Amino acid sequence: MKQNSRRSPSRIRDGGRGKPVPDGPLDVRIERLGDGGDGIAETACGRLYIPLSLPGERVRVQPLRPRGDGFVARVVDVLVPDGARQPPPCPHFGVCGGCALQHLADDAYAGWKTARLMAALARAGLDGAADVVAPLVRTPPGSRRRATFAASRGGAGGAVRLGFQVRESHEVVDLTACLVVDPMIVALLPPLRWLLSEALPAGGRALATVTLLDGGLDVLLTGMAPRSLTDHERLARFAEAADLARLSWRQDANAAVEPLLTRRPTCAIFDGVAVAVPPAGFLQPSLAGEAALRAAVVDGIAGATVVADLFCGSGTFALPLLQRGVRVHAIDADAGALAVLSAAGSRLAAAARLDCERRDLFTRPLAAAELAHFAAVVLDPPRAGARAQVAALADCEVPVVVYVSCNPATFARDARLLANGGYRLERVTPVDQFLWSPHLELVAAFRRRAEK
Ligand SMILES: C[S@@+](CC[C@H](N)C(=O)[O-])C[C@H]1O[C@@H](n2cnc3c(N)ncnc32)[C@H](O)[C@@H]1O
Repeated sequence: MKQNSRRSPSRIRDGGRGKPVPDGPLDVRIERLGDGGDGIAETACGRLYIPLSLPGERVRVQPLRPRGDGFVARVVDVLVPDGARQPPPCPHFGVCGGCALQHLADDAYAGWKTARLMAALARAGLDGAADVVAPLVRTPPGSRRRATFAASRGGAGGAVRLGFQVRESHEVVDLTACLVVDPMIVALLPPLRWLLSEALPAGGRALATVTLLDGGLDVLLTGMAPRSLTDHERLARFAEAADLARLSWRQDANAAVEPLLTRRPTCAIFDGVAVAVPPAGFLQPSLAGEAALRAAVVDGIAGATVVADLFCGSGTFALPLLQRGVRVHAIDADAGALAVLSAAGSRLAAAARLDCERRDLFTRPLAAAELAHFAAVVLDPPRAGARAQVAALADCEVPVVVYVSCNPATFARDARLLANGGYRLERVTPVDQFLWSPHLELVAAFRRRAEK
């Protein structure tokens, strides 16, 4: 371990989790950005994770608490800034937990995202594949079509705070601006704050998920039960004043969604096909990102005419493939998503080419005999990846696998399995749908080698 700190800790404090926290302040040099976007310094006291710092910088920091194999530390002073440091464009940056990297200049930011993909490929033993990596697809500021805002009200007489959570805290930032989400969603914050200041009790908390769909804004309130006629009237007034398309609520994240008001039909449009997505249904976070993923998927299946779309959701890829003449077997565990996909598909001339199946692909992945029907498999699993399904794919003869991932770590694990099973990585397209965050999405196209 490098001796990087200005001085050794003379005292240590107990972080409350059995691991003594080094005393500070410490002067350290940032070596790299970690996967979460924090600067990392290796010091005599251990590894420090330092939000809002940049590689190459010398910073004075205060260690705060244990985290994983090290400690979180707060920047007290940037002693020697890196040339890639820039003034963050959002007034809430630094406090708001929504963005991690607005202080990093654009080129360096894009380079870091691409480097994250290269690191994932290296972990998968695919470092030789650099020549198949496409340039990072960027999505512009203000293009996110969904945001979940937290709301909290202090004790008696306390004001409502509405926004994202404060970095590393359960407190709420009272947002006045956000450069990431669509301006129509940001414009909803004042009427939403009015509603919550009328309806949220002292000490109360709630969530508001706002989605911009074709038809307008779709709002889902979580944890704010309308009990009386007055509550319902207030919600109706809010929906009118804010010109919402739809308003729904649920008791908590696991409870059923109850519609309160539909003023206009709402749907997502997947490549020209309207899908009546449910209020909490999965959607790619931006239209631009969705288009980039779709283009890479269509390109990746390389003309295959019979395709399995695994983890299909409401049909982000299934419907565009169907429209391009492909026969699609679409599988997901979510009955609501499959219902709207099936309904949208049934209205198309190509309806007969779409089959939908509800299935848990973690516990019951498609087996080799089932996979044998397909010329290509598209899979877009949740962050956990698709280990069981990929293990089955590695042992089958499907010529093409197109893997859409929102987690480079589980992608690396699954890509290794595919490579071991005889697949060659032909193309990988990184897509930055979560601007200024550490998240990265990608589409990877694999083709089975002639011989395993
Ligand atoms: C990242 S989303 C992708 C959805 C869709 N491909 C899209 O782009 O809109 C992951 C999907 O996996 C589904 N899912 C999660 N766990 C699953 C499981 N164990 N078996 C099958 N589907 C699952 C979710 O319902 C969700 O639709």
